[in-house]
Amino acid sequence: MPDECLKIGLLGCGAIAQIAHIPAALRAQRVQLAALCDGANDLLEKVGRKAGVERLFTDYSTMLADEQVQAVIIAAPDAFHVPLAIQALEAGKHVLVEKPLGTNSAECLDLARVVKQTGLKLQVGSMKRHDPGVAFAHRFLQERAGPILSVSGVYRDTIFRPAMQETCLDPILSSEATVKPKLHPKADLEHYNLTTQGAHLFDNLFFLAGRITAVTAQVAHNDGNWSWHGLLEFERGGRGHFELTCKTCADWCERYEVFGQSGSVQVDVSLPFYHRPAQVRAFDGSTEVWSQPLGGQSNAYKNQLEAFAEAILDDKPTSPDVREGLETVRVLEAVEESIRTGRRVDLCKGEGA
Ligand SMILES: NC(=O)c1ccc[n+]([C@@H]2O[C@H](COP(=O)([O-])OP(=O)(O)OC[C@H]3O[C@@H](n4cnc5c(N)ncnc54)[C@H](O)[C@@H]3O)[C@@H](O)[C@H]2O)c1
Repeated sequence: MPDECLKIGLLGCGAIAQIAHIPAALRAQRVQLAALCDGANDLLEKVGRKAGVERLFTDYSTMLADEQVQAVIIAAPDAFHVPLAIQALEAGKHVLVEKPLGTNSAECLDLARVVKQTGLKLQVGSMKRHDPGVAFAHRFLQERAGPILSVSGVYRDTIFRPAMQETCLDPILSSEATVKPKLHPKADLEHYNLTTQGAHLFDNLFFLAGRITAVTAQVAHNDGNWSWHGLLEFERGGRGHFELTCKTCADWCERYEVFGQSGSVQVDVSLPFYHRPAQVRAFDGSTEVWSQPLGGQSNAYKNQLEAFAEAILDDKPTSPDVREGLETVRVLEAVEESIRTGRRVDLCKGEGA
């Protein structure tokens, strides 16, 4: 039934829910924002009123028991992702969980088992894949570029981000009573910056150039700012390098370049809250022509939600799925291990043994 709608319950009414998921759910085709849940009752009521949602829950299990809810978005701190996702799957609900999938690969593997056992859908909130420019680059690389020789991924957050966000976002509603993990997510700022931004960088690299099989990394630190650099080896062949810097005294920059035997792409991704499509140039060696797509529906958060609804209602694969979310967490772990040991980390070790 093409008009069938997916009824979604949103867990967490914090920053990303207000900035991205609620506006996306209110606009997305084939999606109905059926319920909201947050442990902070004052925040829940304010956000519920603003969004026009009447079914409000302070208790997650009660929302999961609601027959009106077919799927959940989990927009809670990283430490809660895996336990909350498992709880939802065991209650028979499909899951869209924020990135990174989890805090370590062992718990992500447990989650992957539950996804398999239940047969339900899980999608990771790496929404940049659903930017029409990034999606074009992915298709071009699959269909036209041939074997990959060289890959580059650069992700530089900027000290001007708060000012940039203030220009395009409503003030964020908050509460003193929000549910927080025992360890504050920003207690270890180096780890926080790597995982929160690196989850996007490495998912995009995976999406464009395929699975990363080995990592060698180093980091520089300077007065509360970090710059990670590294060498990447890819399953599809070729070598790549990455830079992740938080933060630069410069503009936001997120750029990917992939060079294949018969074509190449350059991708410049915007700050996601601007909803501008990535600027992409693709060169096809067989025609010797550059292409430059223009993306119309470029709110990546809305597009990811529509893709999630389509995956459930039309029984299609999710993107990224739980295995791809796990791969990104493994790469983040490998970056930290390589820095700790000074060695190259092989992500395929033990495979096929
Ligand atoms: N995709 C993106 O572009 C993007 C951007 C920012 C943040 N994020 C991710 O989104 C997630 C949430 O980040 P945030 O900044 O919105 O967090 P936040 O702390 O502002 O909000 C989380 C909310 O969840 C509620 N909550 C947590 N556990 C709960 C539970 N068991 N029951 C009821 N309520 C519960 C809290 O009360 C809080 O209001 C993080 O994983 C972060 O990495 C993604």
